[in-house]
Amino acid sequence: MSVVSYELVGDIGVIRLNNPPVNALSHALRIGVQDAVSKAQDDSSLALVLICEGRTFIAGADISEFGKAPMMPSLPELLIDIESSKKPIIAAIHGTALGGGLETALACHYRCALPSAQVGLPEVKLGLLPGAGGTQRVPRLVGVKAALDLITSGTPIAASKALSIGLIDKVVDGDLLSGALEFAKEVIEQGATLKKISDLEVEKQGDSPEFFSELFAEWRITLSKRYRGQEAPQRIVDCIEAAVNKPFNEGLKIERELFMECMQSSQSAALRHLFFAERMSSKVNGLPKDTQLKDIKRVGIIGGGTMGGGIAMNFVNVGIPVTLLEINDEALQRGKDIIAKNYAITVSKGKLSAELADERQGMITGTTDYNELANMDLVIEAVFENLDIKKQVFKKLDAVCKQGAILATNTSYQDVDLIAQATSRPQDVIGLHFFSPANVMKLLEIVRGEHTSDQVLATSMAVAKSIKKVPALSRVCYGFIGNRMLRPYVRESQLCLLEGSTPQAIDSVMQRFGMAMGPLAVSDLAGIDIGYKAREGLSDEQKGDIRTYCIADALYEMGRLGQKTGAGFYQYDPNTRQRIPDPKVLEVIEEQAEKRGVERKDILDHTILQRLTFALINEGFKILEEGIAQRPSDIDVVYVFGYGFPAYRGGPMFYADTIGLETVYKTICEFSKTYGEEFWQPAALLKQLVEEGKTLTQWANE
Ligand code: 3HC
Ligand code: NAI
Repeated sequence: MSVVSYELVGDIGVIRLNNPPVNALSHALRIGVQDAVSKAQDDSSLALVLICEGRTFIAGADISEFGKAPMMPSLPELLIDIESSKKPIIAAIHGTALGGGLETALACHYRCALPSAQVGLPEVKLGLLPGAGGTQRVPRLVGVKAALDLITSGTPIAASKALSIGLIDKVVDGDLLSGALEFAKEVIEQGATLKKISDLEVEKQGDSPEFFSELFAEWRITLSKRYRGQEAPQRIVDCIEAAVNKPFNEGLKIERELFMECMQSSQSAALRHLFFAERMSSKVNGLPKDTQLKDIKRVGIIGGGTMGGGIAMNFVNVGIPVTLLEINDEALQRGKDIIAKNYAITVSKGKLSAELADERQGMITGTTDYNELANMDLVIEAVFENLDIKKQVFKKLDAVCKQGAILATNTSYQDVDLIAQATSRPQDVIGLHFFSPANVMKLLEIVRGEHTSDQVLATSMAVAKSIKKVPALSRVCYGFIGNRMLRPYVRESQLCLLEGSTPQAIDSVMQRFGMAMGPLAVSDLAGIDIGYKAREGLSDEQKGDIRTYCIADALYEMGRLGQKTGAGFYQYDPNTRQRIPDPKVLEVIEEQAEKRGVERKDILDHTILQRLTFALINEGFKILEEGIAQRPSDIDVVYVFGYGFPAYRGGPMFYADTIGLETVYKTICEFSKTYGEEFWQPAALLKQLVEEGKTLTQWANE
């Protein structure tokens, strides 16, 4: 079936695009549109309407074609044909006109859209810039400021906003095709003018060239903070500057060069990898497509502490009422207060109205009585991290919850299978591991127990999507994917401290690499007591080598628990909460080094970076070879969406491919000799792929 059709409706030629799922501008689509436009030049049509079938207008260039040999016509070539049409073309937009999709609409002579439509240029999120005239046409149409906002944010805007800034010409109610045909008739009646954006000048409102250079300089600084380490946002400013200072065709040439530069960058390759990784992560290998989903209309949450409150917010935010159970009224009130505080923050940031915040809190019913959970479709346990307590909770749930209810645990480390054994229905038990703050962090690790049913798993994936989380599937192991990999990462940070580094040196290496925060700053934020308490329940063997936690334990024993006590690996300014290096910490480190017989020496930044990132990568390989994660890209999703790993490096596993598996393997073998086999054992899968000369991506695609 052809992806583009053309027919005459009276005086108007209708070009219909039908390339599911999102009408991406594949090669076939570009040829089809080019042919249709060409054909229409010689028929009796007086104007043309370009409209899409399916759920959306064109969602952009076909990202899966990026990085492959270019096929003619390229999108810019096609858009020249569209703009040069001697008959006016009207784009009729529904769903989302994104990236190359919006650029196609901008090459048309007029644009109309349904009220529900959205338009945007999200290329920046893929490490790109709009490469088919977007950076040149948008400022000509809506001005420099609005263009900078739209293109550097990558955030789509609603049709009404697009109309108000002049990006589209008309919002049509009802049937889109009828509205577009009506609009086309008006255009014909007014003399069928060809409104070409490329003929316009950027509106300068009398502002001087100096004004614009200052404006662009300010934007470059702002964007270097907002997109730390990223190239594309800076190149977008270069292009918009060209739109202001140069004729259309020259600007277009600059845009093309910079687009190709971005396209070939490792940053864009990483962000494109993540685009597909994020969509792939909700797919469970071997799960029948027609698995029937359970209806989730009521959710129970047990424990209204740090996590429970945030988890509750996710559900009420999408209209699903929550019953929150706590041990007593006081704890319940505390939980409700945390939720109220979180909502107050959202309201104060202008992200939510006070009325909506009240309405959502009104959807949370507090209780201390398990019987009130009898009718819940899903119950999520978020009580203390203690296996016995969790088992007791699940035993009670088994007794009161209706048959078929999903019983989930938010545990960070405990064995989901042991928790499931406390019930008579292990097939209904699953891990739903949210990340703190649970109302903000996008990751949801879904932990499949030995007996978890397909239906429970498929429903959990769907629940993740409905509450706007990015799911990643893990099998049961200590710490699942994310926290298991964190252990060797933290281990290396502690060993680097002991062997000669400082918290600020380690954190600054990792921040320059792009991590949202360095490991010691994270430790202070989460609380040094968390690791200490987790270790309390472990045998010496389970705790591992004392050198990997002796500094943290010493700080704990000094009452330095992190930000909450004003000091941990750093001191904190009581007013600004700013981190301040603390000489006392250095004393503690030196004392511990002496006690453990470790001689402190300078450690190169490069070595710190390799020790920390390769520790993550090596554990990631072990997780893959054990089948804990389904695919490398799921691990990347976990680290980018849950642990602040820089998206523009694609996640730890994609990063491993970027630097080369052989380098990683050889360095780990060296580390094994230098720092000890007890810490460094290259994963068997890593060794195997190096021997086979394969990348991880190749292995995953086999
Ligand atoms: N190219 C190729 N495949 C795409 C695609 C694209 N531009 N956009 C979406 N898809 C695929 C997805 O991978 C997914 O495939 P799957 O079903 O096999 O997993 C399928 O379409 C459906 O996508 P979603 O699951 O994301 O569907 P939603 O309904 O949730 O969202 C959407 C739809 C809002 C259109 C969202 O897919 C989206 O944001 N797409 C990307 C838009 C984008 O970034 N466009 C710019 C591309 S770059 C460009 O145009 C360069 C130009 O300037 C030259
Ligand atoms: P928390 O200590 O802040 O809250 C736990 C709450 O559970 C308390 O309010 C307590 O009163 C309540 N509670 C305890 N026993 C109960 C019972 N039998 N019935 C009902 N309520 C009970 O703990 P937090 O941090 O919210 O952690 C909860 C769970 O989430 C733990 O399993 C933890 O490992 C996990 N988790 C924690 C993360 C974090 O960053 N804090 C991140 C991801 C998971």
